[in-house]
Amino acid sequence: MTETSSTKVDMEKIVSLCRRRGFIFPSSEIYGGLSSCWDYGPLGVELKRNIKEAWWRAVIQERDDMVGLDASILMHPQTWEASGHIEGFVDPLAECKSCHLRWRSDDLEDNNCPSCGGELTEPHLFNLMFKTFVGAIEEEANVVYLRPETAQGIFVNFQNVVNTTRKRLPFGIAQIGKAFRNEITTGNFIFRSREFEQMEIEFFVKPETDKEWFNYWLEERLNWYAKLGIKKENLRLRQHTKEELAHYARECYDIDYLFPMGWAELEGIANRGDFDLVQHASSSGKSLEYFDEESKEHFIPYIIEPSAGVDRSTLAFLCDAYEEEQEEGETRVLLHLHPVLAPIKVAVLPLSRREKLVAVAKQIYADLRHQWMVGYDDAQSIGRRYRRQDEIGTPLCITVDFQSLDDEQATIRDRDTMNQIRVPISELKKTLQAKLEGEPLFVLPPGGSIWKVEREER
Ligand code: GAP
Repeated sequence: MTETSSTKVDMEKIVSLCRRRGFIFPSSEIYGGLSSCWDYGPLGVELKRNIKEAWWRAVIQERDDMVGLDASILMHPQTWEASGHIEGFVDPLAECKSCHLRWRSDDLEDNNCPSCGGELTEPHLFNLMFKTFVGAIEEEANVVYLRPETAQGIFVNFQNVVNTTRKRLPFGIAQIGKAFRNEITTGNFIFRSREFEQMEIEFFVKPETDKEWFNYWLEERLNWYAKLGIKKENLRLRQHTKEELAHYARECYDIDYLFPMGWAELEGIANRGDFDLVQHASSSGKSLEYFDEESKEHFIPYIIEPSAGVDRSTLAFLCDAYEEEQEEGETRVLLHLHPVLAPIKVAVLPLSRREKLVAVAKQIYADLRHQWMVGYDDAQSIGRRYRRQDEIGTPLCITVDFQSLDDEQATIRDRDTMNQIRVPISELKKTLQAKLEGEPLFVLPPGGSIWKVEREER
């Protein structure tokens, strides 16, 4: 009998799993780590890549009104004056007079240090952009910034994209890339870090259609998370109050996720109006107007911006997929990751290390690797190997046993139900493909049979 516990996962369990199985490590760990910077290990990099690919597919590949971009991280410093970041991308910072720790004063309830209780200095404004220098001379004239958002790379390329693609409104430009913020308050693992990745869409529309497109993108983006397996009850939309609105935004909603530490922003969707194109046109002296061939009018488009974090999405997908089951007195940890996101799609497990079995298993492994990220594991008991694959979210395992040598069949075992079917090795690839695309396990290929029913399908 298996009991399923749906208790919410705590962050320590996620951090421990990520560390233990090679999803995420502290950055430069052998030197003691660097605060709020993280390295994605062999499984983490696959998960993150799959999230980015799923996003790219949904917002570019499968649409005809979007194109991609990959702008540079370092941009002309005037960009950040025009965007308002030099003046406005600041947090109020106060320092403890006793222990000298620094705090974001708008996060604090009183004027005492949360660490030692000491008195805090008057807050001063602290710009979150990282500065660096171009060229060999470190002087003010050579200062550039590591971009704090990818969005500006899109705005400054608006005219380039219109001219080269001949896209007509409404259309969008999407980009995935690193962003950097010298955050004062960090923590909660990869939720808030100083170096992170964003997946941003800037969708250009006729001004009078902004509300319609804003609502469209709210729904579209919420559905994206749900389609990839996030439970609907763990997602919500939260409207920004007037006081909260960023300087560029007319309206903004957050898509919040119920993280272990509570509801928090996963993605922001803002109506930026014409703020950015007006600012860049005025600062650069270049026209960023759009000519509408139908109405023969020139105007500055409005922009709807769905802006998501790759790292926060990774954390949300991990938290949502994490489950512990009691299985014959043992705890089975599993990640119910959507097959599209799972780092390893299929694992090949020969029942023993006997030469003949290994030859068949290795051949299957070699055949499947052209199509998917495939694991191979021949260490310890088969039960333990299944558990190891469950814990990293591998949807399907293939077992090659002694009978396989005679009947040229192998078993496919499903992560979520632990049910198994037996199929001809010649049918493996097609069968796996169908199962990974959502076909129920017990729909059998020619020559296949039900092998083991562990428990009722959920
Ligand atoms: N261009 C708009 C913009 O950057 P934002 O709300 O500041 O808006 C968008 O950031 C998304 O980027 C957030 O919803 C979050 O997912 C991610 N993000 C922002 N700061 C982050 C940080 N310090 N660490 C990890 N992700 C972050």
